[in-house]
Amino acid sequence: MTQPPVATKLPKKEFAQRRQQLMAMMEPNSIAIVPAAQVKVRNRDCDHAYRQDSDFIYLSGFEEPEAVLVLAPGREHGEYVLFCRERDRDMEIWNGYRSGPEGAVKDFSADDAFPIGDLNEILPGLIEGRERVYYAMGNQPEFDRQVMDWVNTIRSKVRTGANPPGEFIDLDHLLHDMRLFKSKAEIKLMQTAADMSVAGHIRAMQVCQPGMMEYQLEAEFHHEFTRCGSRSPAYTTIVGGGANGCILHYIENNAQLNAGDLVLIDAGAEYQYYAADITRTFPVNGRFTEPQRALYDLVLKAQLAAIRMVKPGQHWNDPHEATVKVITKGLVALGLLTGKIDELIASEAYRQFYMHRAGHWLGMDVHDVGDYKVGGEWRVLEEGMVLTIEPGIYVAPDDNTVDEKWRGIGIRIEDDVLVTAKGRKVLTAGVPKQADDIEVLMAAAQKQRKKQRKK
Ligand code: GLY
Ligand code: MN
Ligand code: MN
Repeated sequence: MTQPPVATKLPKKEFAQRRQQLMAMMEPNSIAIVPAAQVKVRNRDCDHAYRQDSDFIYLSGFEEPEAVLVLAPGREHGEYVLFCRERDRDMEIWNGYRSGPEGAVKDFSADDAFPIGDLNEILPGLIEGRERVYYAMGNQPEFDRQVMDWVNTIRSKVRTGANPPGEFIDLDHLLHDMRLFKSKAEIKLMQTAADMSVAGHIRAMQVCQPGMMEYQLEAEFHHEFTRCGSRSPAYTTIVGGGANGCILHYIENNAQLNAGDLVLIDAGAEYQYYAADITRTFPVNGRFTEPQRALYDLVLKAQLAAIRMVKPGQHWNDPHEATVKVITKGLVALGLLTGKIDELIASEAYRQFYMHRAGHWLGMDVHDVGDYKVGGEWRVLEEGMVLTIEPGIYVAPDDNTVDEKWRGIGIRIEDDVLVTAKGRKVLTAGVPKQADDIEVLMAAAQKQRKKQRKK
């Protein structure tokens, strides 16, 4: 990708449709309350970069902190109510633009909007008379207490005729099922996040050389997808050289990369609140050793087998089971496991080397929302769902149950896969993953570097 994409945002009507769909599914005479994400202090008076809560942004497109979204179906003065910070010239000079309640109505289609400072005064009145409150309890303890305070305020007034709600319903259930199915516009954003991440992974393969630090490779990666228009990685980037690749969530990224080792990069860009999640593992010096190649080809075989299982009608667990079968069989063939395949699968012997599942839902959150089981059964894959497929093999450096040549090798290969009407689309197919293709790409980059040095 040479040019940053035009920063497309979802159309306003898509947010409106989501709110309508949610309200249509809510029980009669109910209200939904969704608070914005809180600002988190990093140290003293410095905050972490603010990132809006995914549920909140999904329903509103509103990126500011200190806001509360309320959906009150049938409310006479408007069903969609937004509480937010007031405009304030001084604060805006120091900290940036605010929409204010006027902007919430004008630019974010709220039917009604109030200053966040009036929340305590106004929200009990909105809840009063509603039988049920849809709210995701347990995410923000302080806000949980506030919600209970509002309900108690109404309860304290029952003798004067007030009508407190009788039931709290978990909002996540309805909302997260909606988020599981991606619209055409969402898929476009996810493809853009994927394209940026593909560019980052290719750049990392091209610039990688023995002697570099893991964080330097991380920097190359971040440079590329930021240049392409992403403002943040979708999660903390993992760059693990050699045995660090065996630590599943290694994020120190502060060791030197050595010739003869592999490096595992698990990194993805976030674009317009949608995540990509890609892992590639490649040789630091551009050439796989024989044992590395044997394990690499096995992980790739498992990944391709699992990707083939992604299509409507398959169960969520089918791709995982495919990886377990291929990996167990392969580990026996290579001598890392001994025994009968069926028994090794039944006893989960493969978990010594492959201890995680084959993937997860992907969307606004990298480990996205949505149930994996419905009524006790694995969920059936349907068009519009997006998931990762990411098997791996990790041989601990001190694992003396296997030949020395395998120890300290960690490999994961991860792609993002959209379930389509007839099958699947791999959104991240642009990063090479056949070992030969990786070697060719790295050799070409090395040749180019040599040529430039001679000039
Ligand atoms: N990057 C986290 C994961 O692959 O699940
Ligand atoms: Mn993943
Ligand atoms: Mn990942």
